[in-house]
Amino acid sequence: MPPHQPTAYANGYPRTNTFDISPHSFQPRSSTTALRHRRSLLNRILLGLIGVAAFAYFIWPRASVASVISLGVFSAAGDAQLDSISYYDLGNAQGTARGWEREERILFCVPLRDAQAHLPMFFSHLRNFTYPHHLIDLAFLVSDSKDNTLNLLAETLEEIQADDDPKQHFGEVSIIEKDFGQKVNQDVESRHGFAAQASRRKLMAQARNWLLSATLRPYHSWVYWRDVDVETAPFTILEDLMRHNKDIIVPNVWRPLPDWLGGEQPYDLNSWQESETALALADTLDEDAVIVEGYAEYATWRPHLAYLRDPFGDPDIEMEIDGVGGVSILAKARVFRAGGHFPAFSFEKHAETEGFGKMAKRMGFSVVGLPHYTIWHLYEPSVDDIRRMEEMEQERLGREKAEQMKVEWAKKLKEEFGDPNIQWEQDKTGMQQLANQDKHKAADSAPRPAGAGGQ
Ligand SMILES: *[C@@H]1O[C@H](CO)[C@@H](O)[C@H](O)[C@H]1NC(C)=O
Repeated sequence: MPPHQPTAYANGYPRTNTFDISPHSFQPRSSTTALRHRRSLLNRILLGLIGVAAFAYFIWPRASVASVISLGVFSAAGDAQLDSISYYDLGNAQGTARGWEREERILFCVPLRDAQAHLPMFFSHLRNFTYPHHLIDLAFLVSDSKDNTLNLLAETLEEIQADDDPKQHFGEVSIIEKDFGQKVNQDVESRHGFAAQASRRKLMAQARNWLLSATLRPYHSWVYWRDVDVETAPFTILEDLMRHNKDIIVPNVWRPLPDWLGGEQPYDLNSWQESETALALADTLDEDAVIVEGYAEYATWRPHLAYLRDPFGDPDIEMEIDGVGGVSILAKARVFRAGGHFPAFSFEKHAETEGFGKMAKRMGFSVVGLPHYTIWHLYEPSVDDIRRMEEMEQERLGREKAEQMKVEWAKKLKEEFGDPNIQWEQDKTGMQQLANQDKHKAADSAPRPAGAGGQ
């Protein structure tokens, strides 16, 4: 019995010998009446035992129903079947505005790829979450990673789960490993290059769907998607988003920039409202085309959540959106249970999280963004930024070199100012010698400073 389900007895992992307790289950007719008689007798005994079990359940509602029922029904089969019946009332896993008071469980999904460098920061965030940790089940997907992500992840999780403070311990933790053949390099330029977007997004969508379908359990009310490279976010973000009681909700995502780049910048352009221009554009595109936002190739003129931010705006203000970005999504589990997912194909000319938003909207779910509630993505310099930084470094070196040359120039000038005098003396001597002796010999003996013209 998992610790978080005191009244049920599901372990969430169906065994091979699952047993159907539905009263409408199909009963094959047996060939002989004697057999049928024995069947009906057995059935009556069975019903009686179930009645006793139900009665017992009323008397000791907190006791394990499994043990009560299995005592009668499965005595012949033995204890091996104890865990094979699961009962869930999905009515208890709807998701409400104050989930933390109602013990609503969140499945916290984190896709990872070569994320070793970001894990310490991510876990620092995780430890600071104010939502009760025992109500959060962690699910990690490690895919196409060449670095030490998997080992570091396992180590850190073991540390947290063994923390002296029991409030730090999370619920269930799952690490799923699966490669999707994501070939695009993980560096910023490759990841954000236009050409790579469609196939990259489709593979990301698959990864999300795999992670979710492998880890979503009937007792989850919410699913939270979070990227590892978030640098700054309120520790209360789960409660903050949950209070809005929406089917899908995302914060605004910006990133800090070096001062010379303006200090800050909208980051996640995948949260947007649909526009007429974009719909018209979508109509002209091939069936399999995927529109990606934030690229000049697709001028959609959509209102982006990111650009609507007012640093002093009310963080509770909501904006209806159609596409959602994947950095931080809180969704009710029912969206996924109803069939909502991250399309790994072109759905209304979108894929992954943007397609997810469109799909959920189409299914009648509420999809909302908070323009003035902002979290900050890590700043990773793009190739352009790095080039610009190199240029700036070159300029700085250039300036230093110029300074140095000025000093040297002055020194050299002084030396050169002295030099001609020495030379002149020598020349004078030489000329005298020239006058008196062999002129070739005299000219050779006079040392000439090389390159005295200045460089
Ligand atoms: C988590 O909280 C600690 C203590 O308040 C703080 O030092 C740390 O920076 C926080 N982590 C993050 C990622 O904000």
